[in-house]
Amino acid sequence: MLFAIIMAGGSGTRFWPRSRRNRPKQLLNLHGDATMLQQTVARIAPLVAPERVLIITGADQAEATRAQLPDLPAENVIAEPCPRDTAPCVGLAAQIVARRDPEGTMIVMPADHVIQPIDTFLATVKAAVAVIDADPSALVTFGIKPTRPETGYGYIERGELLETRDGVAVNRVVQFREKPDRDTAERFLASGNFAWNSGIFLWRAKTIQGEIERHRPQLGAALNRVGASIGTPAEADVLAFEFPRMERTPIDKAVMEKAENVKVLEVRYDWNDVGDWRALKSLIEADGSGNTIQGDVIARDTTNSIILSNDGGLIATLGLDDVVIVQAGQATLVARRDQLDKLKGLVESLDERG
Ligand code: GDD
Ligand code: MG
Repeated sequence: MLFAIIMAGGSGTRFWPRSRRNRPKQLLNLHGDATMLQQTVARIAPLVAPERVLIITGADQAEATRAQLPDLPAENVIAEPCPRDTAPCVGLAAQIVARRDPEGTMIVMPADHVIQPIDTFLATVKAAVAVIDADPSALVTFGIKPTRPETGYGYIERGELLETRDGVAVNRVVQFREKPDRDTAERFLASGNFAWNSGIFLWRAKTIQGEIERHRPQLGAALNRVGASIGTPAEADVLAFEFPRMERTPIDKAVMEKAENVKVLEVRYDWNDVGDWRALKSLIEADGSGNTIQGDVIARDTTNSIILSNDGGLIATLGLDDVVIVQAGQATLVARRDQLDKLKGLVESLDERG
């Protein structure tokens, strides 16, 4: 059976000030009517019934997450005691899936991407399920054609073409490299053999459990102790004890860089990792001066800027170029567009005011 795991524990610091402590990016509707989390659930709904959709999130976001997804059984929103990055998150989900269905397959998805059209996405997921059914020990990744030497993504080197399933090319993966430095990213891009890792994975729960045990034995053992407690009266206590002691590491580094049987499917849908405010440029149509505007904004002699008024207040600008202004609640961001890479660091230094 196919389960959908949605990783929704990110802090969303890069969307400050709309994202604040208890309101991370996936709980916002940055564009359109639904929040990014709701869009993610809706995207996979044609293939996965609500009972088999699991959301893994932080304890302080669980309540808001359940409120946004009333069709999901409340117990399918799983609260981590603290953030431990994506390897413990995926490992915890695999324990739950394996107990519900020892042969269960899981698609692991970030909560904060924009993907369209949905039909093409679903066709790719179906192809991935078929690949796993034929080779249950494989780990399937979804590769995006790279367009720039981005250092914030994982890179996948394509090896031989294994098959074309339902029109989707499936290649062996020669190597997986998470967030390379700039020089390496440029080399990867120039070679033409690399795809970006889209952050979506598909595998059998027991396969990823085995991979975590092999490459991160301590983490694997801790996850097995959590798994053994599921459904017992000790469940909550075991999770609260074990989880904070788990290694903080992303699945990309803990497993993907080391695993041997990795395959990559060619992605043909549009994919936008809504990374920071600049991503809105491709989601909202710009005005005649290249400005991306939301809310009550007057932008005079202003060009190539992102100006967002979120709570009904008026923002008026004069003679600006290449800036980002975001007003939300009691906080306002004013930055040069090319400085946004440093927003995460700024917000993390804000303490309780952030
Ligand atoms: N539950 C939970 N707990 N979720 C988490 C945690 C955690 O501790 N940490 C991150 N997440 C969620 C985020 O909310 C996001 O939805 C997803 O897991 C991925 O985490 P990111 O922190 O956004 O990862 P990244 O963007 O740096 O890198 C990943 O995605 C890229 C594509 O967007 C990697 O998989 C890269 O290889 C990939 O290219
Ligand atoms: Mg991300």
